[in-house]
Amino acid sequence: MTQETSMTGRPVISATGLFTPEQSISNDELVASFNAFVERFNAQNADAIAAGEVEALHPSSVEFIEKASGIKARHVLSKEPILDPAIMEPRLEERGNDELSQMAEIGVAACRQALERAGRDAKDVDAVLCAASNMERPYPAMAIEIQQALGIDGFGFDMNVACSSATFGIQTAADYIRAGNAKSVLVVSPEITSGHLNWRDRDSHFIFGDVATAVLVEEEAIAPAEHWDILGTKLKTVFSNNIRNNFGFLNRASPDGVGKADKLFVQEGRKVFKEVVPMVAEMIVSEADRLGIDPQGLRRLWLHQANAGMNRLIAHRVLGHEADADESPTVLDTYGNTSSAGSIIAFHLHSDDLAGGDTGLICSFGAGYSAGTVFVRKAA
Ligand code: COA
Repeated sequence: MTQETSMTGRPVISATGLFTPEQSISNDELVASFNAFVERFNAQNADAIAAGEVEALHPSSVEFIEKASGIKARHVLSKEPILDPAIMEPRLEERGNDELSQMAEIGVAACRQALERAGRDAKDVDAVLCAASNMERPYPAMAIEIQQALGIDGFGFDMNVACSSATFGIQTAADYIRAGNAKSVLVVSPEITSGHLNWRDRDSHFIFGDVATAVLVEEEAIAPAEHWDILGTKLKTVFSNNIRNNFGFLNRASPDGVGKADKLFVQEGRKVFKEVVPMVAEMIVSEADRLGIDPQGLRRLWLHQANAGMNRLIAHRVLGHEADADESPTVLDTYGNTSSAGSIIAFHLHSDDLAGGDTGLICSFGAGYSAGTVFVRKAA
């Protein structure tokens, strides 16, 4: 597409796709494995602990996890090694250069479903944005591999805005359509978050799960009759160290694992909770105002899925009352926090029942800090 061909594209969401790994870990299984690791660590370090040189580790609890987060289970691509107290990380086989890589494989599965649901031939897609918290390698871009696997003639690139990657991807795709640079863009979020989670850290070992989502953003003129108009998008970032991962190509963990913990996900959960809830609630309300939408009239909120308590508070501030499951659906209980994919899973699984003319909000928030809102209305 060139800029001259169209200057007035109206972006819509034509369809979404979801890939869910078959394997799932319950809180019971997770805590049993974690506590076996704790027992082993404390036994192996008994003398040093008694001498006050090493701190004893404390066991995790199913009750705490569910009460503090709302998470009951999470899907993963590599269950056995994660639950093995001697390993406690995913072990995904390294693939050859001629094989489809892990992220591309699950991303392609989600994209295929979105394309099928939209009745769209991959040949008619112009671009692929791979928007996720972690990339399997620096280059070639995951998006270009996904583009090639789907047979798309166009362009692709990767983008990372942590938990807000998908909404930032949707605005980027919408802007291409608004500017006439593309008519059909796949925003794919393969989130293999089990790889950045420190499964040995009691404060966070329960948080994340693996998944892939895809959102097909298109110009209204070519979209299927059943689609969602994008009424407006808004992005915001505010620097914070409260959610951080220092892994990078300049500072790989040493082979003996020294210093490894900060090369994985680390957070000050309480601070995140306190700082992000008001920021996001304010952003939603002021963006609704800018768009002339009554926030209390929103039919459904598809919020980022990190913590049930955060969502309860944000939904209450936006809707003006305690939201029920129909107004603010949760997928966190079975998927865990899937980073940028969370609000898209919620939208994918809980939007078919809405009526033409219903207005809702897809909203993300997370590391950066970053937050994104996408107000949508079901086509009548
Ligand atoms: N099992 C049992 N107890 C645990 C535990 C576990 N796995 N982890 C922590 N605890 C204990 C703590 O030691 C603490 O005990 P203390 O009161 O005796 O000191 C107590 O539980 C409370 O810990 P805290 O970390 O303050 O819990 P919390 O209520 O803040 O919940 C989170 C923790 C992470 C679930 C919550 O802060 C959160 O979800 N924050 C937002 C996170 C977020 O959205 N991040 C974005 C990621 S992309």
